[in-house]
Amino acid sequence: MQATRLAALIAPLSGVFDLAESQAPGHAARVTHIALTLCSRLDLSASSRRTVLYAGLLHDAGVAVAELPTNVEGNGGHASAGAWVASRFGLDTEVQNTIASTHERWDGGGWPHGVAGEDVSVEARVINAAHWANDIAEGSESPLRSRAALQKLHPRDVTGLAGPEIADALADVVRDDDTWTMMWDEHLSMMIAGRATSEGRASVKNVERIAVAMGEVTDAALRETGRSARVAELSTQLARRMGMPQSERRAIGVAARLLDIGQLGVPRHVTEKPAILSREKMELMRAHPGLDARLTEHALGMSELAQLVHAHHERLDGRGYPDMLDNYEIPLASRILAVADSYWALRADRPHRESFSDAEAREILEAGAGERHDGDVVMMLEPSLGEKIAS
Ligand SMILES: [Fe+2]
Ligand SMILES: [Fe+2]
Repeated sequence: MQATRLAALIAPLSGVFDLAESQAPGHAARVTHIALTLCSRLDLSASSRRTVLYAGLLHDAGVAVAELPTNVEGNGGHASAGAWVASRFGLDTEVQNTIASTHERWDGGGWPHGVAGEDVSVEARVINAAHWANDIAEGSESPLRSRAALQKLHPRDVTGLAGPEIADALADVVRDDDTWTMMWDEHLSMMIAGRATSEGRASVKNVERIAVAMGEVTDAALRETGRSARVAELSTQLARRMGMPQSERRAIGVAARLLDIGQLGVPRHVTEKPAILSREKMELMRAHPGLDARLTEHALGMSELAQLVHAHHERLDGRGYPDMLDNYEIPLASRILAVADSYWALRADRPHRESFSDAEAREILEAGAGERHDGDVVMMLEPSLGEKIAS
């Protein structure tokens, strides 16, 4: 696995959070871009810039998280959920606190604490000012109109939000055509990652940690706590039983954490599905392995892992999705992931049915062996293997 900087991992993931909140694509990246430009104008320290970078990219991450895991304390609201997501990525308390303060205002009229003046950190105020300007830009009908709207910005419009110094700097920064042109660049998130300081070179361990974090965030947004860990554990055990070498087992364990991260970008009314989906919603769901794979590829730069993830809903009989591959066109690792993923989906409560027992789940999988799933992999599911993993 190649080394990647932490920012290069997190920048593309911020795009998922845009989608989850039905924000304009690139929302988090644009806010971060304006905020970093403000940091330069204000001559803030390297450590402030780093905080602004990560807090900007993740400022809406909490919106995707419907419920915090029960063992996490939070004062409610998406800002504190966003701080939790940042902590899962291994980001420090500066970043977490900044995300939690992105609704506080200089004039004290914000929330959740209503603090005022310099009690709202400069990093949080920079992000708030950038967010305000970006809202104007996104609210305009076209990039050119947004340019005109931003040119009219007066510092007093932002003083109550961010304080006089930042307000002056913002009025300055948004009048600069470079700021405005870059906002609409499709590679903006990558350019932001490139501007980041060079700390946090990602080792295999770092990549694994990001994958674990993404799995936990996906669990909190769409499934039950611990699902991604259970799918990873069952996948690696099945891979061991199938005689796969350690390096491949490790890759399968990472891929298992990344299944369905693309569903964070599918609107909630589709993922919180009743038993029957309309055709249009079915299409959206069928697109998720592609999204999972794109994110894996962009964030981790690992195309082999992306391939495994891409094929986790393929079926041996060629009736799966997205590519309708058949039999041995599907990598063994993906066939293993499919069995582990289905097993734990059956074991979970759903809105329209209760969870199946271990025996029932295995029976259902065995019934589909050779058509839906690889029979050799299903055979490795011994009685109560699931109970051992769940306990
Ligand atoms: Fe936002
Ligand atoms: Fe899936």
